[in-house]
Amino acid sequence: MTNHLIALKDFSKPQLVSLVDRALALKEDALEGNRHLNLAGRTISMLFDKPSTRTRVSFEAAMYGLGGQVIHMTSKESQLTRGEPLKDTARVLARYVDAIVVRTFGQYVVEELARYSTVPVINALTDLYHPCQVLSDIMTVVENKGSVEGLKIVWLGDGNNMANSWIEAASVFGFPLTLACPEGYGPDADVLKQSQDRSDKPIVLLHDPAEAVRDADVINVDVWASMGQEDEQDKRLDIFKSYQLNAGLLGLAKSDAIVLHCLPAHRDEEITDEVLEGEQSVAFDQAENKMHIHKAILEHFVR
Ligand code: CP
Ligand code: NVA
Repeated sequence: MTNHLIALKDFSKPQLVSLVDRALALKEDALEGNRHLNLAGRTISMLFDKPSTRTRVSFEAAMYGLGGQVIHMTSKESQLTRGEPLKDTARVLARYVDAIVVRTFGQYVVEELARYSTVPVINALTDLYHPCQVLSDIMTVVENKGSVEGLKIVWLGDGNNMANSWIEAASVFGFPLTLACPEGYGPDADVLKQSQDRSDKPIVLLHDPAEAVRDADVINVDVWASMGQEDEQDKRLDIFKSYQLNAGLLGLAKSDAIVLHCLPAHRDEEITDEVLEGEQSVAFDQAENKMHIHKAILEHFVR
């Protein structure tokens, strides 16, 4: 397995399956009260440039739960803010810690850190990808449906970082994926094309939410304006309004379809309060699963 977790396309299906399986086993162990202090004496650095509730706390809880330690820092608190190059930051941090977990804007930042770091760099969200989140989403699908095979899995809304990582997941795991995004708000064109070329299953981009959701087993939604796009929020509310996951749209899916939302949610924008709080929503199990998948990731990458 590659030394860094930058994008899902860098991995093989058996590698990603083994992370998901390990996370499911760790969840069961946690429920039974069994602890694994496999990372005692190890330390990770968290370098976060965007807000976070789930990813930060679940990575920290995962590392502490495995017996390790965490040092959290924002770029603003570091010398990056005064112009120290990423390549120097990477080489210095790597001398202190056993892995660097990064949440930032540009994908180039994690790539540059990974190029110079001698310890693993883990992508905890960029404008382009959110790979760790999508692994916990897939864990949640497996937990509820037994497998990602043979399902109609749908991405509804913005073609954002989550959509891009779902597309790469589809190409690596080999499941079909249907996306519905407004014209001009589709996923990254290179990610889509390369994933379609890699995959033997269809990855289809539509512009009709009803067509996408019809007979779905799994529906994924996310905010319409991601972090860094706050200025576009009002414009997007209008453009995306027919993509809202409400009871009417959900009624077109299979009656046992599950609804995923990586959270934070904007209730009554991309998803109604009724659907998010309804019995088909697994959003809060999905949030919990972040901690279990992060344990599996840390166990694997921190050596
Ligand atoms: N889903 C997710 O990444 O949430 P946070 O932004 O709270 O970390
Ligand atoms: N697409 C969202 C995901 C938040 C976890 C964002 O980037 O803000």
